[in-house]
Amino acid sequence: MKKILLTGCNGQLGRAIRREYGDAADFMLTELSADDGIKALDISDASQVRAAVENFRPDVIINCAAYTNVDGCEKNYDLAYSANATGPKNLAEAASEFGCSLVHISTDYVFRGDGTRPYVETDEPDPISAYGRTKLAAENFIRDTFDDYLILRTAWLYGEGKNFVRTMLNVAQNHDEVSVVCDQKGSPTSAVELAAMIRFLQEKGATGVFHATCEGDTNWADFTEEIYRLAKKDVRVNHVTSEQYAAANPDAAKRPKYSILENAHLKELTDEFTMAQWQDAIAVYMKESGY
Ligand SMILES: NC(=O)c1ccc[n+]([C@@H]2O[C@H](COP(=O)([O-])OP(=O)(O)OC[C@H]3O[C@@H](n4cnc5c(N)ncnc54)[C@H](OP(=O)(O)O)[C@@H]3O)[C@@H](O)[C@H]2O)c1
Repeated sequence: MKKILLTGCNGQLGRAIRREYGDAADFMLTELSADDGIKALDISDASQVRAAVENFRPDVIINCAAYTNVDGCEKNYDLAYSANATGPKNLAEAASEFGCSLVHISTDYVFRGDGTRPYVETDEPDPISAYGRTKLAAENFIRDTFDDYLILRTAWLYGEGKNFVRTMLNVAQNHDEVSVVCDQKGSPTSAVELAAMIRFLQEKGATGVFHATCEGDTNWADFTEEIYRLAKKDVRVNHVTSEQYAAANPDAAKRPKYSILENAHLKELTDEFTMAQWQDAIAVYMKESGY
């Protein structure tokens, strides 16, 4: 049975990883703060990370820990850097020292977002936000440390926890109209789908950088309309531009306008596994969430 050290085990992806592997893995579950049966582990602390890896001797570390508040990263850069860049560096160094592999999650935000065709893994990153810069630093630290890594860049992630889908469903409880940006494109991705891809690649022994988003693309306003259609909510969605949104929310971080990733390396590697279409994945999520 594979020994997995899972960081950020109570986050959206952390929960999906636990569900994906179930009893098929021997987990060391870790979180920022301790809870029932869960070990407290701050990945930005190198000595804590080294001790956890030395004690548990995992086959693989799956890093689902990150500071994911994109606007918060602009204001709290040091905190963001310690979780998003120093943390993965510590994990890579411990993995290299104790001979295990590292699965790390990165983001569409490493790209500039002014593309005109889906980004592939070999395209040059050029982040425009603090969050994107910290996540790119992590990729570089990992690559510079060793070769036994899998970096999966995902986007627009939703699962069990705080996310865009839940925010929009909360809004629907006391609003009959909402304004949503319509000129930022991307691929909503279910954490359940991403966890399945991680397991597939892990079991194949794949290494390197992989894009990992659901198939197809949309924009935030159309995505919101699909969420309300599935939830049978009668809420009018006003389509606004990024500029209109920024004028109303001056503290918000700049977001990439074009965030579509092509899962090119996955498709080159195999036809045994594909990510679901985003419309199918969100329908499953809404059903499982009771909407
Ligand atoms: N959410 C998205 O739309 C999105 C898009 C692209 C890529 N990603 C990437 O996908 C991965 C998973 O994201 P997610 O949405 O599942 O994240 P999430 O739900 O925000 O969970 C992140 C987890 O990391 C923990 N954490 C934060 N700082 C930590 C530290 N220093 N040490 C240990 N744990 C720490 C958090 O704990 P607390 O709750 O206690 O702070 C939380 O449990 C991340 O790498 C993220 O950057 C996410």
